[in-house]
Amino acid sequence: MIFDQYKRKHDYLRLSITDRCNLRCVYCMPKEGLPFFPSDEVLSQDEIVQLVENFAEMGISKVRITGGEPLLRTDVVEIVRRIKNVDGIEDVSITTNGLFLAKLAQQLKDAGLDRLNISLDTFNAKRYKEITRGGNIQQVLDGISVAAKLNFKKIKLNTVLIKGQNDDEILEFLNYTKDNNVNVRFIEFMPIGNSLKTWKKEYVGLQNVFDICESNGLDYTPIELKGNGPSDNYQITGYEGSFGLIHPISAKFCENCNRLRITADGYIKACLYWNEEINIREAIPDKKKFRALIQRSLDNKPLNHEMAMSETDRIIDKAPTWRHMSQIGG
Ligand code: GTP
Ligand code: 5AD
Ligand code: SF4
Repeated sequence: MIFDQYKRKHDYLRLSITDRCNLRCVYCMPKEGLPFFPSDEVLSQDEIVQLVENFAEMGISKVRITGGEPLLRTDVVEIVRRIKNVDGIEDVSITTNGLFLAKLAQQLKDAGLDRLNISLDTFNAKRYKEITRGGNIQQVLDGISVAAKLNFKKIKLNTVLIKGQNDDEILEFLNYTKDNNVNVRFIEFMPIGNSLKTWKKEYVGLQNVFDICESNGLDYTPIELKGNGPSDNYQITGYEGSFGLIHPISAKFCENCNRLRITADGYIKACLYWNEEINIREAIPDKKKFRALIQRSLDNKPLNHEMAMSETDRIIDKAPTWRHMSQIGG
């Protein structure tokens, strides 16, 4: 078991396997893109597996594979298979933009993938192209429908709300849960990397989601979802799926944080919104040294992030990390 200085138990690893992406979503990457890490700086498959073995011995039981876009890595299926076989790892999941899912969902399922989170911010093809800077929505919708037939333990959709771009689609997303057994999560736009420039005018709080339920006569009740991290979940009466709210700004969930992050270039980040990172690549073969570095990082993990301190105090125009979201993995 590993704990931080506030006695929070950490059993969940977010593992970024690439910083590359085939999209450049407006809240995630600059318009001109980012220089990608040189390939020799990115952890190899063997390093990833050994790293997960080290973590499993320290009590990590859940691994979420992130990117950039993790399905761009040609060995992603093999990575899933090998991680799933590590003793102590009970739950393996992926967060993806879904573009390659139609092709890979079956192989990922066969390799032992338990859960899938798929980013989808709009149902409108033109908007999708704008928000993702070039993506074809049909590819994602096809990916979702292939994945939906494969009995994953859970499929979640990630919808970052952006004022004036998709916040008029909340009802449509809620209605999507009527006949689709997915959990649609509305996510508050976070000020990090590129999004710092537009965040102040584009942030939307999530109270709106309840208001829309109420004004449309939709009854909802809180539900518990297994394996849920930061989202509060609800189900509309009679609907097959459910919806969730991820609100790092309006109501922090740091108090229950159980997460560690490893970046594709081999750094531990104990918190998404924190400047300290330690390179752990060289220590992977040496379990004792590895554990000491992870513990050092946890010992310095802050109790709370300091993203926009309050509703009236949205003055932060600098994030405490140089990385863009795509270089962390969310
Ligand atoms: P599960 O709980 O395993 O389903 O994963 P998740 O919902 O945390 O993962 P996902 O990659 O789908 O992330 C959804 C959103 O939550 C993204 O916007 C992430 O950046 C955000 N998120 C995930 N973990 C944290 C966290 O520890 N802190 C903050 N502030 N945001 C987080
Ligand atoms: N704020 C909130 N969520 C973000 N994501 C990427 N950038 C941001 C941001 N600035 C989400 C993506 C993806 C997940 C990994 O993180 O939508 O679903
Ligand atoms: Fe790529 Fe995901 Fe970032 Fe969009 S949110 S640019 S899909 S890494």
